[in-house]
Amino acid sequence: MANERLIRVFDKQAKIYERRRRQRSEKKFRERLIPFARGKVLEVAVGAGANFPFYPKGVEVTAVDFSEEMLKRAKEAAREEGVSATFIHSDVETLSFPDQSFDTVISTLSMCGYENPIKMLDSFSKWCKPDGQILLFEHGISSNRLLGYIQTLLNPLNRKVVGCHLNRDMVHIIKQSNIEIEKIDHHLFGMVHLVWAKPI
Ligand SMILES: C[S@@+](CC[C@H](N)C(=O)[O-])C[C@H]1O[C@@H](n2cnc3c(N)ncnc32)[C@H](O)[C@@H]1O
Repeated sequence: MANERLIRVFDKQAKIYERRRRQRSEKKFRERLIPFARGKVLEVAVGAGANFPFYPKGVEVTAVDFSEEMLKRAKEAAREEGVSATFIHSDVETLSFPDQSFDTVISTLSMCGYENPIKMLDSFSKWCKPDGQILLFEHGISSNRLLGYIQTLLNPLNRKVVGCHLNRDMVHIIKQSNIEIEKIDHHLFGMVHLVWAKPI
């Protein structure tokens, strides 16, 4: 899908993501992972700022998204939640930062959308300091065969309407990249993964 069309798909969903942020949607997962953030944080594909309520005090967040409607709401979220953040309006797949810029790199529910998720993870590895951490909360194809089959059937429609792939094998993707998993938790029939990782 061309980027302009994908951006429009996400622009249209920004209000829904704002509501989800206010309802503390996916709290169970975010509250387990996001408090591990420290120092200079890069949050890619920040959406409407759903992680902001869960950041510990003292972090300095650089947040990226290519949807202006999402970014508008993420800025509001940072103000409301008292998070110190700067925002970059860009396609994160074409963005570059100096190597080893961040103590923490965070991606939540974004690996399903990129053209090249392995390359994206390799960039995280480069941008993260050697003693830093990469935190991921991602969804993908279930380890349950029936659910996986249904996800694969629904995938084309979901990509078109919601903007993300439902049936990526996230664990395989992560293992092919330049990040090293330190800890991984699987939830919801293997559809959801929480990952604590470091650069290689
Ligand atoms: C499924 S939402 C997740 C938002 C947020 N991370 C969360 O956990 O609620 C995906 C977000 O990624 C953004 N996005 C997708 N591909 C992107 C890209 N290549 N560059 C920047 N932002 C992107 C979309 O605009 C959208 O805000």
